[in-house]
Amino acid sequence: MLALLTPTDSSWVEAAEANLSALLSDHAHCEIKAAQSALALCARYAGEMPQLVAPLHALAQEEGDHFAQVHEHLVARQLRLEQPRSDTYVTALAAAARQDHHDGCPQLMDRLLCAALIEARSCERFRLLSEHLRAADLRAFYRELMTSEARHFSLFSSLSAERFGKTETRTRLATLASREAAIAKHLPLGPQVHG
Ligand SMILES: [Fe+2]
Ligand SMILES: [Fe+2]
Repeated sequence: MLALLTPTDSSWVEAAEANLSALLSDHAHCEIKAAQSALALCARYAGEMPQLVAPLHALAQEEGDHFAQVHEHLVARQLRLEQPRSDTYVTALAAAARQDHHDGCPQLMDRLLCAALIEARSCERFRLLSEHLRAADLRAFYRELMTSEARHFSLFSSLSAERFGKTETRTRLATLASREAAIAKHLPLGPQVHG
């Protein structure tokens, strides 16, 4: 799906279903982190690429809205937001991209393409949730979010293509996607969006 090279094992949905409190809490924190990282990209790179600001500001607002929606699903189930956990997957992906930074690989391109891959993986997993969760309200919610994540993947890849060119973007995305696949393959399957 999208740029991904390895599908998630379907047993991940069982781990997610078995602990909806952990899944929804982790998902809520992912939405906050997505909003924060969109604004952090503006803070760091708006000088280099002013055209980042409008779409990433809009994205940060949308991710903030998603946080509030996930939180409503927690509250509707009499659950409370759990404490945030560190996201091993995101940390590993950023480290995998940094391997090449001594070769003059533009860091903005990697930030955009790592963000694109994270959106792609979320999209893939939300599709699984939209197809397999028992609760109909959550299936519908994840179907809607799946389409948002696909749109966000396209946004980040097209921003990279606009700044660094289509060919460079395609080549670098393929490299990062193969590292992402290796990371995703070795993650323990738990009730987290990227776990
Ligand atoms: Fe989101
Ligand atoms: Fe997103």
